[in-house]
Amino acid sequence: MGVQRTFAMLKPGVLQRRIAGEIINRFEKKGLKIVGLKIMNISEDLAKKHYCEHEGKSFYYSLIEYITSGPVVAMVIEGDEAVMLVRRLCGATCVDDSMPGTIRGDYSAHTPKNVIHSSDSPESAEREISLFFNEDEIIAWTDDNQHWF
Ligand code: PPS
Repeated sequence: MGVQRTFAMLKPGVLQRRIAGEIINRFEKKGLKIVGLKIMNISEDLAKKHYCEHEGKSFYYSLIEYITSGPVVAMVIEGDEAVMLVRRLCGATCVDDSMPGTIRGDYSAHTPKNVIHSSDSPESAEREISLFFNEDEIIAWTDDNQHWF
């Protein structure tokens, strides 16, 4: 196992629904560390950079429209195998496949409004963290509870 950082983002609608705390709590309960956190509006330019690999797909423009439609909560999460672990907690992208108990399985009924994004690989995590966070916005705090997780 190795310590990784990953990027996760609560999509528009989560703040409005007042469920941001509940979702963030799932990562904390798992023992993952929040080392970066901010509420922000995403510009079209940033949205296009973030989703550049999906340009040309049928849902690309609705994806850009959705992610820029309201404030998001951007996070950097740290822990052993954090990329895979956070993806598992989020659940499958398509809501037909996302199991109850996962974030998408519990909070989303339609794939285009699937509540949360998380990086799909360490390489994507590095790219996405640097798109959304400056180095001085990430705080590497000491975890005295590490032994218990
Ligand atoms: S693909 O085609 O397998 O590469 O796409 P996928 O990785 O499953 O999804 C890429 C992102 O697009 C979102 N998505 C959609 N948005 C709107 N409508 C539809 N039908 C749709 N299908 C997929 C999906 O949630 C991914 O965004 P993130 O932010 O990672 O959740």
